[in-house]
Amino acid sequence: MNITIFGSGYVGLVQAAIFADVGHRVVCMDIDAERVDRLRAGEVPFFEPGLAGLLKNGLDNQLLSFTTDAKAAIQASEFLFICVGTPSRPDGGADLTYVMDVASSIARYMTSRKVVVTKSTVPVGTTDKVLAHIKQALHDQGRDIPIEAASNPEFLKEGSAVADCQSPDRIIIGTRSPKVLEDMRRMYQPFNRNHEKIMAMDPLSSEMTKLTANAMLATKISFMNEMANIAEVVGADIESVRRGIGSDPRIGYQFIYPGCGYGGSCFPKDVRALKFLAGEHGHRAEILTAVHDTNQRQKNKLAERVMTRLGFDLTGKTIAVWGLSFKPNTDDMREAPSRYVLEGIWSCGGKVRAYDPQAAEACRAIYGERDDLVITEHKEEALEGADALVICTEWKAFWSPDFEQVKSLLSNPLIFDGRNLYNPAHMEELGIEYYGIGRGRSLNAAA
Ligand code: UDX
Repeated sequence: MNITIFGSGYVGLVQAAIFADVGHRVVCMDIDAERVDRLRAGEVPFFEPGLAGLLKNGLDNQLLSFTTDAKAAIQASEFLFICVGTPSRPDGGADLTYVMDVASSIARYMTSRKVVVTKSTVPVGTTDKVLAHIKQALHDQGRDIPIEAASNPEFLKEGSAVADCQSPDRIIIGTRSPKVLEDMRRMYQPFNRNHEKIMAMDPLSSEMTKLTANAMLATKISFMNEMANIAEVVGADIESVRRGIGSDPRIGYQFIYPGCGYGGSCFPKDVRALKFLAGEHGHRAEILTAVHDTNQRQKNKLAERVMTRLGFDLTGKTIAVWGLSFKPNTDDMREAPSRYVLEGIWSCGGKVRAYDPQAAEACRAIYGERDDLVITEHKEEALEGADALVICTEWKAFWSPDFEQVKSLLSNPLIFDGRNLYNPAHMEELGIEYYGIGRGRSLNAAA
């Protein structure tokens, strides 16, 4: 089938590569000419395991192409997927400018029947709005061309985006058109082989499913962070509690890891957007407000701990930071907890020596060159002469370091672990002062 995908970010590019991999002919349209040039040369603009190989194959067998020409991209295919960004506005609502720009281009350039598919995470009602916008524009131009729509949200996780997309848990198709449903069933057939994964519903429910899934997962995390904070003050160990509750299949082991808060391009934005959407319809979403506020507090926790332990004046002090990306296997620092650590330390006059296996470039792009930031090539280098180590991301490389070396490199054997990687009893044996999240040791009591 011929498919055009607007937006070559995580969602668009991964979906395009996956579709081309199973034989669909895919045109990717992006307004960023530099990005398009890089993609044509086979260069993935971000770190995502497995994607470069798929991109290369798609280019080699000419099933995947990239363009900045909206007219050509629209005329190339019957199915037009919208995978552009929907950033947060200052009021928390989703900014639909890019989505509606694509809708306007479609109306301007389409000359035959089209099916427009929203894959970006959008407020409930957006697919209908896009369809109405295109119909109105066609009507205003006096052109009568059939146009239909579907919502088809994406559930991929950064770092495992290719695998998630190739083996989805479910394929949600939200459309009022039986023909669109039938055609999209065919399109997704290669991904629907072992058991039935396609769930057909109306577009509003489809859009709401995506937002609800992200809100539920974010709620689990904020809930566990709240429990971790309680565990800390009452002297319980949240890691034991986590295993204890996860064994109940109604709760499950996934997404109950406490830590230094959730980040990334989805959870923070989508929780805010759903809360805003509810408010627009006159509903105060109090759980979502608590989920968001708890997360904001949690992201500040590591920096606060450093200050409580080492003082609010960090002049002359250096803090080592392991992990800059918002989670492992990505170079993405959007809304990353590490940013709160870096900025917190700087605001107190401290210096940072940071290491991340992938996000050094992303960090430089955000903060530029500064005297109080050294990004090192190796994790050990970051520790040299530092007054403490703060762990923000659970990259595998941090799970089992040579602790004697860590101790000898740090000027002070002090670790603040935002991901609960180590065993507090082991740390005590080694003579390392160690603070996890919710591990029964309140910093106030120890300080
Ligand atoms: C998320 C959803 O999982 C995905 O389905 C959706 O399509 C997009 O948003 P992503 O943002 O890539 O994916 O990452 P995810 O693995 O879900 O992690 C999000 C954040 O939650 C990370 O900062 C992670 O560290 C944090 N997290 C996750 C926890 O703090 N505890 C957990 O138990 C799980």
